[in-house]
Amino acid sequence: MKKIAVFASGSGSNFQAIVDAIDQGELAAKVELLVCDKPNAYVVERAQKAGVDVLTFQAKEFSSKEAYEREIAEKLAEKEIEWIVLAGFMRLIGTVLLTKYQNRIINIHPSLLPAFPGKDAIGQAIDYGVKIFGVTVHYVDEGMDTGAIISQQVFECEDEMTRDAIEEQIHKIEHQLYPSTLQMLFTAGAKDPSLQQK
Ligand code: GRF
Repeated sequence: MKKIAVFASGSGSNFQAIVDAIDQGELAAKVELLVCDKPNAYVVERAQKAGVDVLTFQAKEFSSKEAYEREIAEKLAEKEIEWIVLAGFMRLIGTVLLTKYQNRIINIHPSLLPAFPGKDAIGQAIDYGVKIFGVTVHYVDEGMDTGAIISQQVFECEDEMTRDAIEEQIHKIEHQLYPSTLQMLFTAGAKDPSLQQK
């Protein structure tokens, strides 16, 4: 049973999918902590409902990324967190956490990386006119969505699909792909991402 902390900034539908997969016995993990940089985000409410401890912080109240990451790292150590799972966390992870959790920080991104990293990946893909959309789960390194890829799932966009319909389909894929990929990682053990080709 892996002890995980989920980091999120927004609505938290992926946080919920992880909690639900654990409840349904599909993911052998325990969400010990939600770390959130937006105290009013809906994900905080979801965590409270699920009985998960919450650590909120506001980056502007700290002198640097190192300073707030040191505080987060202390809490993670106290709770003996083994893996960090990013789910819509809108900040780059810095050296403090990357060093302490080498190859144990995972992210989900709503595009087929390396295409469309960064913000509004779905909008970027729509504007580009791609026909094949998808989702990527990857290790986190110091870059923006640049870590080694663990899993991907695609779907083909029909011509008449609206942005809302595309987003709905992407989220549906995410909510299945993230828990199943985490389960694969936690049961197979972490592979060294430096051995994988980018
Ligand atoms: C998801 O699309 C995820 O891929 C991206 O941020 C979004 C978070 O959505 N990194 P939610 O807060 O989990 O609903």
